Amino acid sequence: MKVRKAVFPVGGLGTRFLPATKALPKEMLPIVDKPLIQYAVEEAQAAGVEEFIFVTGRGKSAIEDHFDFSFELQETLGSRGKTEALNSISDWLPPAGQVAYTRQQEPLGLGHAVWCARHLVGDEPFAIFLADDLILSRTPALKQMVDVFAETGGNVVAVMDVPRAHTNRYGILDVGADDGRLAEIKGLVEKPHPDAAPSTLSVIGRYILLPEVFDYLSAMERGAGGEIQLTDAMAKLIGKSPFHGLRFEGRRFDCGDKLGFLQATVAFGLERDDLRDGLKTFLSEITTAG
Ligand code: G1P
Repeated sequence: MKVRKAVFPVGGLGTRFLPATKALPKEMLPIVDKPLIQYAVEEAQAAGVEEFIFVTGRGKSAIEDHFDFSFELQETLGSRGKTEALNSISDWLPPAGQVAYTRQQEPLGLGHAVWCARHLVGDEPFAIFLADDLILSRTPALKQMVDVFAETGGNVVAVMDVPRAHTNRYGILDVGADDGRLAEIKGLVEKPHPDAAPSTLSVIGRYILLPEVFDYLSAMERGAGGEIQLTDAMAKLIGKSPFHGLRFEGRRFDCGDKLGFLQATVAFGLERDDLRDGLKTFLSEITTAG
């Protein structure tokens, strides 16, 4: 079955990026010249996703404007013959009627945010994107997962190894059969203390889940941090259908963290033909100057 829909939970306050995020949604922070949320939407498009479901909150209207026509800008750029700039604001826009917005009214956790999209998703497998997790890869990360899903079915999450000291920041896997790329998941625990973590293999913000997850989210059980955790509902899917973690090819940047955000800016800048040389020169100057 095809993964046609993706959910983008974008209701978070972004307190780690204040004051920048006082009036600007954190998902609109740019890496080079593109907002984080656009990277996520383009990755979804590259994996064949056709419907885009945003779970927003108060103060997030800039995201809706970003995925809409901007008549004034399009008119002006068009009449001035600025084709490249015109394409850069419209090329990637999902067609009319293929974007939906719903609000998470209270900050009750990631699981609750996803649950808010249940009627928009309906009864089919769907993807979830956490836009903070930006992945630089040859094949878009969700495309890698969709290819696995086509073989295994069930649920597929993106995973990577993290230092043991960091297990309390992630959903952590208890691993069954493992071929080094694809790990069968036999348990999941949200943000365990390093001493209690069943492994160091952690969930990164890309998921393909079966709609049964909504049944478990409906229980509204509180987990780590008193929040309704997606990880806890996913754990209940284990054993009922296949559940795999994919060690994706690519490099993940935690753009919800200042250092990760800066690293992403440099890495994505170096990918760009128009910026690579200038950036390299600057980096070597500034790092050798001590
Ligand atoms: C969320 C999830 C966690 C996952 C992480 C990936 O945590 O709850 O399971 O490992 O995203 O970035 P958050 O970063 O929202 O605390």
